[in-house]
Amino acid sequence: MTRTPILRVENLTKHFGAVQAANNVSFSVHDHEVVALVGDNAAGKSTVAQMVAGALTPTAGRIFVGGHPVTIASPREAFDLGIATVYQQLALCENLDVTSNIFLGRELTSQAGLLDTKEMDRLAREYLDQLGGRIPDVHAPLAALSGGQRQGVAIARTLVAEPSLFVMDEPTASLSVSQTADVLNYIEGLREMGKGVILISHNLTDVRAIADRIIVLRHGRINGEFFAQDASYEQVIAAITGLTHGH
Ligand SMILES: Nc1ncnc2c1ncn2[C@@H]1O[C@H](COP(=O)(O)OP(=O)(O)OP(=O)(O)O)[C@@H](O)[C@H]1O
Ligand SMILES: [Mg+2]
Repeated sequence: MTRTPILRVENLTKHFGAVQAANNVSFSVHDHEVVALVGDNAAGKSTVAQMVAGALTPTAGRIFVGGHPVTIASPREAFDLGIATVYQQLALCENLDVTSNIFLGRELTSQAGLLDTKEMDRLAREYLDQLGGRIPDVHAPLAALSGGQRQGVAIARTLVAEPSLFVMDEPTASLSVSQTADVLNYIEGLREMGKGVILISHNLTDVRAIADRIIVLRHGRINGEFFAQDASYEQVIAAITGLTHGH
């Protein structure tokens, strides 16, 4: 029996005028699975991610969520389909505390119509603990947190909507080594929660450490697919640089 993937894309294609940013890209993401998209600059990684996240409309190809064909015309529609996107530029409020940031715009209220701060604090703690985050105090203002901890808050914020798939485009790009370790920890937390993750990263060491599968894009096409535990660094590099050819 094959499990229905959370996401399947088939022959996903995006042309910008003469630029073939993505060409016939097909892959699946299952629950409890981290799929890394790697490739050189301009390989098409962000283009593919943005089509899944509803930020770009495909030129051709099909997208299935939970086995059903869908069109994802906007980030809002992606959100409604259970697809969360965590961007590098985080839209968080410096002067608010961790709980307030997680529930900003979706505050919980008690039956009397008052803000249910106790329940929000409890849930914020629960999300952060599930992610394995090292954030000691949900009342700390965001300004007091490191970049890695902020990523944790941004991810916890998306958990409120209970998405099934996370799209992360270079979530560690400007982070220090220890902050990057925090973010990799969160991604492992998401996998343990049963989520699927599409992770875009240039750091092959991180990718091989955390991904279940690695998909290599080159000039907009898939040029190699690996189980992370079987793939050598050299094999992945060869697929990225075009020394070997997929398909
Ligand atoms: N909005 C756009 N208009 C025109 N061309 C675009 C647009 N977005 C991306 N491209 C082109 O599509 C190709 C793929 O870009 P994409 O951003 O997907 O690459 P990437 O793999 O994410 O690269 P990087 O590692 O540098 O982030 C590039 O040639 C890029 O110039
Ligand atoms: Mg990119």
